[in-house]
Amino acid sequence: MMSIGIEELRKHAQLIAQLSYPSRCPRYAASVLRSVEELGVDAILLKDVENLNLIGKGFRNIVLVGLREGRRVAVKVRRDDYPEKSTWREARMLELANRVQVGPLLFGHRDPVLVMELIEGPDLTRWLLHKWPSTSEAKTMLLDVARQCFRLDRSGIDHGELSDASKHVIAAECGPVVIDFGSASHSIRPKNLTSFINYLYSRPLDLVRERLSLGEVNRRSLRAYKETYSHESLETLLAEIQLL
Ligand SMILES: Nc1ncnc2c1ncn2[C@@H]1O[C@H](COP(=O)(O)OP(=O)(O)OP(=O)(O)O)[C@@H](O)[C@H]1O
Ligand SMILES: [Mg+2]
Repeated sequence: MMSIGIEELRKHAQLIAQLSYPSRCPRYAASVLRSVEELGVDAILLKDVENLNLIGKGFRNIVLVGLREGRRVAVKVRRDDYPEKSTWREARMLELANRVQVGPLLFGHRDPVLVMELIEGPDLTRWLLHKWPSTSEAKTMLLDVARQCFRLDRSGIDHGELSDASKHVIAAECGPVVIDFGSASHSIRPKNLTSFINYLYSRPLDLVRERLSLGEVNRRSLRAYKETYSHESLETLLAEIQLL
């Protein structure tokens, strides 16, 4: 895929403007470009000669692919119409998640941009429903997500959006990666694992549960987990739903 160096990019106002989404405001675009450069990004990937390669478009951000120290990275840029331009909080949450081996590695941030590891692969639901993984592959993937949720719970970070894991877990080649810590917060009652279980037991995954012969969730075990966040209560829960 084509890329354009930052120096070269400066000569193309039409491309620079795309850094400010959706309003193409020149001043905002210029500040994004400055941050991108300061974060050590050397080039940005293009879809074609006239367009940057947007790999994500959310309510709050757009995500581009950059080159940094010779490798591809995700460049997450606040939309110009999203009032919170600070990246400090999200960066802090992602940093804490990284400490327990969760989330894309954060390489740096400078308002209104975060640069992190680029995760490639389909979202979890798509992977489960359309890639037809074997039972053991699927269980390994789900178990890995559950254990990551547990680690987040134990570190007191609530991701905040894991009941829709389809949007926020990517099934990468080397395992699942939880993305988007934009809604994450400190919590003494984090709901990562319980949200993930809710996702696992939601309608869209009926077929998946059937194929994997997952057991029912025992309310009492769930309560025990919520009260203790203990390793034992986690293992009991995982054994009961037959993920082990
Ligand atoms: N590190 C990453 N690697 C690869 N793709 C990513 C990465 N981060 C985000 N994306 C892609 O960009 C999309 C939007 O990212 P993200 O969810 O972080 O932004 P958002 O603005 O918070 O979105 P929303 O408001 O819809 O939740 C994701 O769904 C995903 O497809
Ligand atoms: Mg998101």
